[in-house]
Amino acid sequence: MSTIKILVFPGSLRTGSFNASLAAVAAKEIALAGVEVTRISLADYPLPIYDADLEAQSGVPKPALDLKRMIGAHHGVLIVSPEYNASVPALLKNAIDWVSRVRERGEPPLQVFQNRAFALASASAGQFGGLRALMALRQVLTLGCGATVIPRQFALSGADHAFDDAAQLKDTAHAEALRALARQLIDVAQQMM
Ligand SMILES: Cc1cc2nc3c(=O)[nH]c(=O)nc-3n(C[C@H](O)[C@H](O)[C@H](O)COP(=O)(O)O)c2cc1C
Repeated sequence: MSTIKILVFPGSLRTGSFNASLAAVAAKEIALAGVEVTRISLADYPLPIYDADLEAQSGVPKPALDLKRMIGAHHGVLIVSPEYNASVPALLKNAIDWVSRVRERGEPPLQVFQNRAFALASASAGQFGGLRALMALRQVLTLGCGATVIPRQFALSGADHAFDDAAQLKDTAHAEALRALARQLIDVAQQMM
């Protein structure tokens, strides 16, 4: 891997997802910075709820291996997640849990989380913008997985009115905060290459 590559994915599968919209704007911002960006959906990585008996019987499901390799093919990862009951949605936590179980070629546990940079954003119609999910997700990634999560994050409140007809952020302060997040992710990912 020589050219810097950033992976972006939302933690929601919902049609019309605010987080998917924000992920799309962020991906565009990263591309505008001249960086190669890949946007994926967790719908393409269907996983059963983590069950240690299932893992013991059948191993880690292929979509978890695929997602781990997809993360591993990038230098930085931006996760844009909804907040469910003040925390991380099960879809996203389950995907992280499965990826954390993948071991390839005798590599140390959790390696894929540890040699690249992560950044977090959220969107909610509510006043906190999903901020509490970001706090929980930061804990999962840093304390649980040993990841480097950049200091900047962006929680978009009022997400139901935040996008214009062209799917861009209406508020220039929001757009600037997202741009600053994208730039810090690129910088830190570059330093970790
Ligand atoms: C089970 C559940 C719990 C939720 N809890 C919260 C919450 O704690 N805070 C919040 O801001 N929104 C909460 N919401 C509302 C979500 O922010 C809203 O559904 C949002 O649109 C989901 O993101 P998406 O548009 O990307 O799918 C919750 C929604 C569901 C279904």
